[in-house]
Amino acid sequence: MKRLIFSSLFATVLLVACGINGGAPATPQAGQNPLLIPELIDSRETPEIMLNMQHGQHQFYAGVQSETKGFNGDYLGPTIRLYRDFDATITFVNDIGEPTSVHGHGLHVRGEIDGGPQGVIEQGESWQITIPVRQEAGVSWYHPHLMGTTAHQVHAGLAGLYFIEDENSQSLDLPKAYGVNDIPLIVQDRSFTDGAMNVYAVTAEQLEDGLREDTLVVNGTVDAYHVVPQGWVRLRFVNGSNARFYRFSFANNEPFFKIATEGGFLNRPVEMTAIDMAPGERNEIMIDLSNSTGATLMADFLNEDGEVGGGLNPFAATPQVTALEFRVDESLQPSGTLPDVLNDIAYFDRSEATQFRTFSLDMDGGDDDAGNANNGDLFSINGSSMNMMVVNERVKKGEIEIWQITGDQMLHPFHMHGVSFQILTHNGEPPAEADRGWKDTVVVGEGTTEIILRFDYVATDAFPYMFHCHIFEHEDSGMMGQFTVE
Ligand code: C2O
Ligand code: CU
Ligand code: CU
Repeated sequence: MKRLIFSSLFATVLLVACGINGGAPATPQAGQNPLLIPELIDSRETPEIMLNMQHGQHQFYAGVQSETKGFNGDYLGPTIRLYRDFDATITFVNDIGEPTSVHGHGLHVRGEIDGGPQGVIEQGESWQITIPVRQEAGVSWYHPHLMGTTAHQVHAGLAGLYFIEDENSQSLDLPKAYGVNDIPLIVQDRSFTDGAMNVYAVTAEQLEDGLREDTLVVNGTVDAYHVVPQGWVRLRFVNGSNARFYRFSFANNEPFFKIATEGGFLNRPVEMTAIDMAPGERNEIMIDLSNSTGATLMADFLNEDGEVGGGLNPFAATPQVTALEFRVDESLQPSGTLPDVLNDIAYFDRSEATQFRTFSLDMDGGDDDAGNANNGDLFSINGSSMNMMVVNERVKKGEIEIWQITGDQMLHPFHMHGVSFQILTHNGEPPAEADRGWKDTVVVGEGTTEIILRFDYVATDAFPYMFHCHIFEHEDSGMMGQFTVE
């Protein structure tokens, strides 16, 4: 039976799923479709990686074609394995019929190869970059980043992963079999009409909220299940949604361990039963299935304040949904375990900072540079909307800085290019153990979030870095600014 969740069909379908037993609002059945695993391209084995950005037709529901876009395929793109101290060459070919750019979100690289709005690739043209990988192991990702078109291009399917490995990640006895017990999970929300993905469209209200749709899609799969060995399983989450915030947990509150944030491993695993993820964020977790027949990953759709619960407005939270079912197959060989020690992060100290900057993400005009209230643009940072002709901040390479960030009206995932940072305080409190890792995207609200960072790569006026809200609708509407590092 083909199941369409959380449309008006939801009630009907649930009734069907529950058969004549009906009544009890059971957890919707999941696990009808095998989880799609993006192809893996190893940069050491493929000296010239080609990624063709193309139109495609993807079947989210069997037998129904959706108009999508992908890298070398219908939807999403290959996972590129990068190695620290090994330079990878990648050629992106634009065949999507309109200009684009490809940003390496999380990569510590200089401005010209960062792929921001200035890095335009015209239709029919290609863009070749050589990435000098010098950062520690972690999950980064690539996606379009042109001014004003990011939201619809990513929504169509243009996104893929970089798995960065280093000596540490290779020597740790972790699960490492790609797609078997080391599993990429690109989480997105989409909506469907008769099984076909709705093409990107937003109303003015959705622009404010960010586009939040009703159906969870993992690696381009709805209703997914995945077969895993009876051992530790490592999940590499990327929230690739336009605007959705999620809370992930396992059925029966099964505990798991968080082992990494965006920019690398935590020092030690942190036991948790639920993890929140905003757009742009990545987290790695491990779950022990060595005495188990499986586990069911659940997702709550959070509201604008990051909380569970809310009405039927797609902006608000919805009931918990089944995200993915893991089924143990005892014939598969388990490998890897949960190490006690994962990393040795050198923490910055507040006293080392020589420069302080404040950023206010505004949705009501904010204050302009002269301090006049509500004088700026609707979606802005420090009162100014993104203007490609204006460099908003100038950073000195190698200096340690503290950025103090606040958001307006709702939670915003703040992201900047070219660096990983550490959280100093969030609403005046030091971060929880699970957040004491290298990050490049952080959720900010009306209280202040302080981060500390140091930029080590150059970004000039011609190819500056961006800082922005990672709700794509906010970014495209101007909640973004530019900075140079020299
Ligand atoms: Cu994921 Cu500036 O972006
Ligand atoms: Cu980025
Ligand atoms: Cu925002």
